[in-house]
Amino acid sequence: MNVDQTGLEHDPLIAETLVEADAVRSRVEELGEELSRDYAGLDPLLVCVLKGAVFFLADLVRRITVPCEIDFMAVSSYGNSTDSSGVVRILKDLEANIEGRHVIVVEDIVDSGLTLSYLLRTLRARRPASVEVCALLTKPARRKADIVCRYVGFEIPNRFAIGYGLDYGERYRGLPYVAALDESKLPDEFA
Ligand code: IMP
Ligand code: MG
Repeated sequence: MNVDQTGLEHDPLIAETLVEADAVRSRVEELGEELSRDYAGLDPLLVCVLKGAVFFLADLVRRITVPCEIDFMAVSSYGNSTDSSGVVRILKDLEANIEGRHVIVVEDIVDSGLTLSYLLRTLRARRPASVEVCALLTKPARRKADIVCRYVGFEIPNRFAIGYGLDYGERYRGLPYVAALDESKLPDEFA
């Protein structure tokens, strides 16, 4: 069930639910178990890509039963409101030195993969022991960059997703489930 305390339930831009809140919760639990098994004894560093992945990171890290650390990066990808260009600027860099560390990049969604591809190149240049990606959502149909996401929550169809951290114009991040944005109801200049 989607228990929504955000007062957004009648917002006309929210179309169908893509992932129910309960499904998010149980999948995050499974991913936490998987990471706990795979990273036992490795003291991994979870690198959260701001801002959308904050919600996922916070829930995920509470399901990881081995010692781990968190750090944050913010990037901006040039493009319009729904398409990224792959030209990425680092707005906030990590505090941690990742040389020799086992890094897990925690992403909200991998769409074209262009942002992540740039990010992975940047991180690998710092000589970590390993780098893997844990993404809550992926849209395989939109992929332009050849990247491997080792841990994936859900594959979703080619829709613009909002909720559980994902925004449209900085709104809807607080929705407890993932929904599709009704792009047919957007003003013409955004559609
Ligand atoms: P990419 O470079 O096309 O993979 O997209 C990078 C970023 O764009 C993601 O990390 C998200 O922050 C944002 N993004 C991509 N698709 C969506 C979506 O469906 N909803 C909300 N944000 C998205
Ligand atoms: Mg993101």
